[in-house]
Amino acid sequence: MKIKIEKKVKSKKGLLVVPISKKKLASPPAFIKKFLKTRVNNKEFKGKKGETLSTYLGNQKILIIGTGKSASIRSTKELGGKIGKHAKSTKSEEISLMLPENLHNFAQSLLEGLLMSQYEEGNLKSKKKKGYCLEKLHIITDKKSLEKDLKKAQIISEGVKYTKDLVNKPSNLIDAAYLAHEAKRIAKENKYKVAILTQKQLEKEGWGLLLAVNQGSEKEAKCLVLQYDGAINKREKPAVIIGKGIVFDTGGYNLKPTNYIETMQQDMAGGAVVLGLFEILKKLHVRKNVIGIIPVAENLIGKNAYRPSDIIQALSGLTVEITNTDAEGRLVLADAITYATKFKPASIITIATLTGAVGVALGDRYAGLISNDIPLRSALQKAGSETDELAWPLPLHHDYKKKIDSKVADIKNYDLGSGRYGGCSKAAAFLERFVEKNKWCHVDIGGTAFSEDPKAYQGKGATAHGLQLLLKFLES
Ligand code: BES
Ligand code: ZN
Ligand code: ZN
Repeated sequence: MKIKIEKKVKSKKGLLVVPISKKKLASPPAFIKKFLKTRVNNKEFKGKKGETLSTYLGNQKILIIGTGKSASIRSTKELGGKIGKHAKSTKSEEISLMLPENLHNFAQSLLEGLLMSQYEEGNLKSKKKKGYCLEKLHIITDKKSLEKDLKKAQIISEGVKYTKDLVNKPSNLIDAAYLAHEAKRIAKENKYKVAILTQKQLEKEGWGLLLAVNQGSEKEAKCLVLQYDGAINKREKPAVIIGKGIVFDTGGYNLKPTNYIETMQQDMAGGAVVLGLFEILKKLHVRKNVIGIIPVAENLIGKNAYRPSDIIQALSGLTVEITNTDAEGRLVLADAITYATKFKPASIITIATLTGAVGVALGDRYAGLISNDIPLRSALQKAGSETDELAWPLPLHHDYKKKIDSKVADIKNYDLGSGRYGGCSKAAAFLERFVEKNKWCHVDIGGTAFSEDPKAYQGKGATAHGLQLLLKFLES
């Protein structure tokens, strides 16, 4: 799609969008003055946030949209989404968007919302139909300097699209080999260092937990490692971001029931966020050293699959009793955390569809944050509220940490006694055993990665929740 900044409306084609604040209701652009005046006098339009009027003036299709009294990142992204969805429903392949002054500071958010609303989950129908596609977008403003913000919105939206595609597509297509191939492609295009740890290497090094989870699969486990050196001081300690890469989670022998299993291709959403992030780090010139680690496995049943009651030795040396094969995310992350400690990181962030419990606690608008370092957790929470990828703290408690002590091994992966109570905190308590002295924060996207009730600028399915949050965190 082409995006152009123009001083005046040149194109008469497509949809002309006129955002208007409450303040400007009395002095709108001249060409809609008469039309608007009647509507305002009849109280049919008050300029409220997201309120719309659509009409034709001559041959020109017009959408007037209220921007309310004041703007915020969330409301402006939603506004962008509303404009985008209106364009889609009226099949307007070209948009001229008049950018009013009160939205200058939010131009990036407005465009992000508009672009993100265009996302369509692909399909593999054998008869291809040419669907609607937004082809041209003219941003009408005399502020040339907004070009940078708009370019940034475009890059971020591309990263989000990339992540959503990985999460939405099924795991017979998006498997360990595919993700490894993508990691290599991204590394090559951006000149990052990359390592793909193969099943053989993982066995040699002793990644017992990751390998145990993958035992039921015919495909090989892998761990993908990407390294971006963006800091001005080359020796600056890296932020290590670990994304869960379970390409499908059946639950293993603790098999998930109908209505819970169908969308479990989403269980690599954390890994997909890490790949999406690496797609754009270099393009956005982020000034940090960042290492991305994605442990990839498939949690299946079969004659080789791991069982409840198995005892496995982790990469760290700790022995782990498996009490529930569906609590597999914490296992693969644990080995990746041990591996991450070798980089002497400034911080370790785990991002994962780790629990359904986080969704019960926080719903689908807030990811859960659990950390051993309050400043790190606060920085991530702030980054979330600055991008409308919200996140909220959940506690770690001394007693929760004790709950995973095992009689027959050092620890167990699930406490059968307390069941799902505080499930998110307890999953994180397991991870915490592996982080040692490092600053660590876990971002649980189990409730937010895949939505049935999408935001105004999204569709159903994958959300890429966490990508913009992490980017903002790295930028600050
Ligand atoms: N991948 C799931 C968590 C999940 C559930 C993510 C729904 C997204 C949507 C995870 O591996 C899991 O199964 N967790 C269990 C843990 C339990 C068995 C201790 C859960 O949360 O129910
Ligand atoms: Zn599971
Ligand atoms: Zn899982």
